[in-house]
Amino acid sequence: MSKRVYIETYGCQMNFADSEIVGAILIKHNHQITPDLQQADVVLINTCAIRDNAEQRIRKRLGELKAVKKRRPDLKIGILGCMAERLKEQLLQDDLPVDLVVGPDAYRNLPELLNRVECGERTASVLLSEEETYAEIDPVRLGSNGISAFISIMRGCQNFCSYCVVPYTRGRERSRDPQTITDEAQRLFDKGYREITLLGQNVNSYRWDCNGNITDFPDLMQRVAQISPMLRIRFATSHPKDLSDKLLEVMAANPNICRCIHLPVQSGSDNMLKLMNRKYTVEWYLGRVEAIRRYLPDCSITTDVIAGFCNETEQDHQQTLELFRKVGYDYAFMFKYSMRPNTYAEKRLHDNVPDDVKTRRLEEIIALQGELSLQSNRRDVGKTFEVLIEGTSKRSDQQLFGRNSQNKVIVFPREDYKPGQYVMVQVTDCTSATLIGKAVK
Ligand code: SAH
Ligand code: SF4
Ligand code: F3S
Repeated sequence: MSKRVYIETYGCQMNFADSEIVGAILIKHNHQITPDLQQADVVLINTCAIRDNAEQRIRKRLGELKAVKKRRPDLKIGILGCMAERLKEQLLQDDLPVDLVVGPDAYRNLPELLNRVECGERTASVLLSEEETYAEIDPVRLGSNGISAFISIMRGCQNFCSYCVVPYTRGRERSRDPQTITDEAQRLFDKGYREITLLGQNVNSYRWDCNGNITDFPDLMQRVAQISPMLRIRFATSHPKDLSDKLLEVMAANPNICRCIHLPVQSGSDNMLKLMNRKYTVEWYLGRVEAIRRYLPDCSITTDVIAGFCNETEQDHQQTLELFRKVGYDYAFMFKYSMRPNTYAEKRLHDNVPDDVKTRRLEEIIALQGELSLQSNRRDVGKTFEVLIEGTSKRSDQQLFGRNSQNKVIVFPREDYKPGQYVMVQVTDCTSATLIGKAVK
């Protein structure tokens, strides 16, 4: 029987892309996706397990849904994604309002599982796969602006950074057939989309072998970039150990590949990088930054960093601050270390930096990055950028917003411009978060 399904998504871009695959699978089996929880027969929560606070947030949400389920006992609740994979059947045993647990490689089973749940069963399907890429599934674009979309190009991760849960929740790394990727990008462009982001935990290790004919990530980027000069291409995430000059050459040759590289550093201390199993040194990382600046002088560089990892000393922390100053990041995602069960760090290292010290170090990094972001934006005042318009500014309906190639948000007066158009905007002012400008003819 056809169900109305409400999907709620937490976590990274890959999880949002997965929810769109889940939507497509359900629609193919005659279910409907509803944006309204009140209307739903089934609620699916696509979860994240990257840090403890991500899981706490989902448990809190389940608390709220328990109250809803009390009023409507026939409402079914399913947990998808990384927390489902990490905790498996345990989620059915705990005192949680959960009927269904489905891991990231088992979404094709959802229609059948929903039938079983309908008959009153509570069930879990959490097998990881070495092949599943959902390659031929055309995702439904949930909550899309019709302009930008994600495309997953690979799944899983086997880098085993010692703090990280992802290799356990997402399984073996595997790449998707490049033909299905370019087909999906072409379909999006034909529908009017103007920006796609190619997604993987470590896109630089993308590799497709067709009878000895290898497509690597730069080859794939080259193919996707050829679809149209009007289609912007972004990608995330790049592991610094695998960022190749070949990729930078392909970027330099294709102006529609956006000038923004997300290059998570995690720490500015070689001791920490070693304990984290990141497989590069600060010197190597700075060499990669230098190569980016050489090939792509106008490229923005953003990062992820973890404060207070096991054994981190004050000196390690100072080295992180120093590296931030040296690189002058345009933007950063900054986190306090959160110990994850079953990782190497949990089993073999000690989570021995006191919480107040972690907090203070994180705050110091955040304060420094605030200055660096402001400096970066100030350097753009007076410059003119091509902006892809995404929509109306939250602050005023007389203003539009969009992004430049460097992925910075620019707000400017609406005039007669429309979302989906490209427009040249001259920057006249800025805050640490936003550029402010005016369209120029
Ligand atoms: N594959 C990407 C990152 C995916 S997770 C990469 O390797 O760059 C996104 C970010 O979450 C990581 O870059 C890291 O900074 C952070 N993170 C991962 N595990 C964490 C943990 N246990 N505690 C705090 N932050 C963590
Ligand atoms: Fe986690 Fe490292 Fe894989 Fe990124 S590369 S997902 S941080 S194990
Ligand atoms: Fe979270 Fe899983 Fe992504 S743990 S960050 S949703 S890969």
